[in-house]
Amino acid sequence: MSHNRYDLKSLIKKYDTPLMLFDQDVFESRLGEIEAALGKVCGDFRIYYAAKAFFNTGLGKLLNKLGLYLDASSYGEIYVALKSGFDPARINYHGHNKKEEELRLALKAGVATVTVDSIEELATIQSIARDLGRVQEILIRVNPGVSVHTDEKIRTGCSDSKFGIPYERIESVFVDLKKYPNLKFVGLHCHVGSQIFETAPYLEAAQRLFDLFLKAHREGFPVRLFNLGGGFGITYKDETPFPTEELTRVASFVKEKAQKSGIQMPVLCFEPGRFLAGPSGTTLYTIGTIKEVPQRTYLSVDGGLFENPRPALYGAVYDAYVLERGPDAEKAMSYRVCGRTCESDVLIPEIKLAKARVGDHLVVSNTGAYNYSMSSNYNQYPRPAVVLLHDGKDGLLVAREEYEDLTRKDQTPDWLA
Ligand code: LLP
Repeated sequence: MSHNRYDLKSLIKKYDTPLMLFDQDVFESRLGEIEAALGKVCGDFRIYYAAKAFFNTGLGKLLNKLGLYLDASSYGEIYVALKSGFDPARINYHGHNKKEEELRLALKAGVATVTVDSIEELATIQSIARDLGRVQEILIRVNPGVSVHTDEKIRTGCSDSKFGIPYERIESVFVDLKKYPNLKFVGLHCHVGSQIFETAPYLEAAQRLFDLFLKAHREGFPVRLFNLGGGFGITYKDETPFPTEELTRVASFVKEKAQKSGIQMPVLCFEPGRFLAGPSGTTLYTIGTIKEVPQRTYLSVDGGLFENPRPALYGAVYDAYVLERGPDAEKAMSYRVCGRTCESDVLIPEIKLAKARVGDHLVVSNTGAYNYSMSSNYNQYPRPAVVLLHDGKDGLLVAREEYEDLTRKDQTPDWLA
């Protein structure tokens, strides 16, 4: 985020901490980068924002305004999108274990496409679509069997994975599809994983997907959507980010293949979540205790595992600076930044910072993706507020949870009343 455009201290005064800032202008400019790279090669392409990274009704309104498509991984995400007024004709619904009632709700709502993740799901969607008297457009999610260098927990396109239909089985799906008159097969999908920095896995996946694409055409399915999923890696601390200009190469690769095979260039689709949301987010904390032990100095902030479980889950490492000293101050001290839950919840295992004092604030960048969306009320901490920044303005996107929210769903069984 463009720190100098906003007075972070007055935002803290206005909204308190922990606070997540979400910079709309960063989001839009990153979207612009992807669009520019694809626009060089493709006349027609689609960007589906992966809602799981960070989503709420305000963001749904923004995405709708930007003309983005939405990649929903659950009916809950579709529900939020609909509440925000997002056009269902631009929603794709995926997920490897959707329940029948969830699919029914999604189809009733009029989602444009459903990504089928298993052979059994074909019959389920067929029966719902028939009940509703309509034809449902579907994509088939292929497990391309591509290996990538990323955290094991976010690797999805390798062969040992619960996601997608194994590559080798797809041709039999083409045969099965002919039994389902209420399904219209419109595209193929794959997703190799998340926080990826190289182009190779995308090219490999594109190659594999294209082979199936051609086979589908030969089987009499004039499929158009060619969805390579999300996963573009970002910088949290020292990583070299995924070079978006490489998307031009991926698009050219597909275009050449189409030309050589004499078919129309498919509609290339991507589903970035982290790439758009991650760098748009910044979290502001108040520094509480600073404790020296023989091994190190612990600096505790008023957030932690409940609002950012990523360090604990994936060993994610973030960058930070002390607000009162500024981003460019000499980093003279080494700290371990930890959260305030009753766990050894380390937010940043070791970081050099300018000398911090109790009551100062810590600014942690790149917290927009999978932080708030994976947050919890562990230790009964209310979730932070999220503020949207745009063009020098600030406005609440999600209000801070109140203590009241913590008991909103609690019930008292008779024998305790
Ligand atoms: N499409 C599909 C089918 C996906 O499964 C995912 C992410 C995406 C798109 C978006 O991927 P992205 O562009 O955001 O990398 N909680 C983990 C990340 C899990 C990603 C799950 N799938 C984390 O915090 O790193």
